[in-house]
Amino acid sequence: MSFRILIFIGLCVWGTSIEPACCQSQNIDARTVDTSEKVNNHARFHSLSRPGLHNVFQIDDQVYSGSGPEGKQSFDALKKMGIKTIISVDGTQPNLKLAKAAGMKYIHIPIGYDGISEDASLSFLRAAKEVKGPVYIHCHHGRHRGPAAAAMVGLCRGSLDKQRALLFLGQAGTSKDYSGLWKDIRQFQVPAEGTPLPELVESAPVEPMVTAMAQISHYYEELLKKAEGTPRDEKNAMRISVLLREEFHESLRKHSDDYDDTFKKWMRESEMEIKQLEAELKQGNQKQVSARLKQFKSQCKRCHKAYRN
Ligand code: HEC
Repeated sequence: MSFRILIFIGLCVWGTSIEPACCQSQNIDARTVDTSEKVNNHARFHSLSRPGLHNVFQIDDQVYSGSGPEGKQSFDALKKMGIKTIISVDGTQPNLKLAKAAGMKYIHIPIGYDGISEDASLSFLRAAKEVKGPVYIHCHHGRHRGPAAAAMVGLCRGSLDKQRALLFLGQAGTSKDYSGLWKDIRQFQVPAEGTPLPELVESAPVEPMVTAMAQISHYYEELLKKAEGTPRDEKNAMRISVLLREEFHESLRKHSDDYDDTFKKWMRESEMEIKQLEAELKQGNQKQVSARLKQFKSQCKRCHKAYRN
């Protein structure tokens, strides 16, 4: 057994946690783990548990994927993992301030749930070629778009073959409902040498409806926490509920010109639904509140199925 492996085992035993990923923040250890993966093409990807981050996986010695970092705690966790560059593929504007403070650069390549456009693929290729040092690729939850982007970067780097890339999507929990993401990985061919590649930017413009939805999603999750968490926080649940309702109202008013009547009707229904929720929050009717929140989620799904996925 080489000295390096002995150190690796030593560090793992010495660490506070004995999860397999406990040492992966150090590249030397990540490489050791990676070698064993190549032996078995069906080996699962390492899942890491980090404060403030969810669904974190290691794709190869340099590439990780997971959920969007939100507060300082999650940026600190990324820093500890040795991450130098963060790639966001979701519609929210990256938090450049917190990233900079933690010594990391951002690259923003927003993609939809319907698949990875050719332009975005070329940006991922450029990132795969040019970015030095460990990279963290994220969408919002780290389940659908982020893993698809990370799989594409792995294919561009040659660290994943098609079979492993698809295995990764499966393990990350990428829903089969987003068939465009699966198809774009299944059919992806690394573009030829010399193909002109787009500039990489730290913050890309996104459609106003996407920005509004990212905000809606944020409020909805906060609302769930306040209305159903322990302890419950009815006052803030009410406050966030109002913000959520206004976001639906305003995005319908300002950004829905390109959408048809059904879409507009559903946006209004969501607004009404939240109004009902507020009445139930006021009455302190917890059972009704829970049922309403669940029902509300099905409105998100109904519309995404028709207009987004
Ligand atoms: C009436 C339709 C409709 C409803 C209701 C709706 N959405 Fe959306 N949502 C959309 C559309 C359309 C998009 C895609 C916009 C685009 O890509 O141009 C979207 C995109 C999103 C996105 C992706 C943003 C990004 O980063 O790209 C999230 C997250 C989201 N919605 C969350 C929610 C949640 C949570 C709810 C319910 C609480 C909800 N939406 C309700 C229509 C809707």
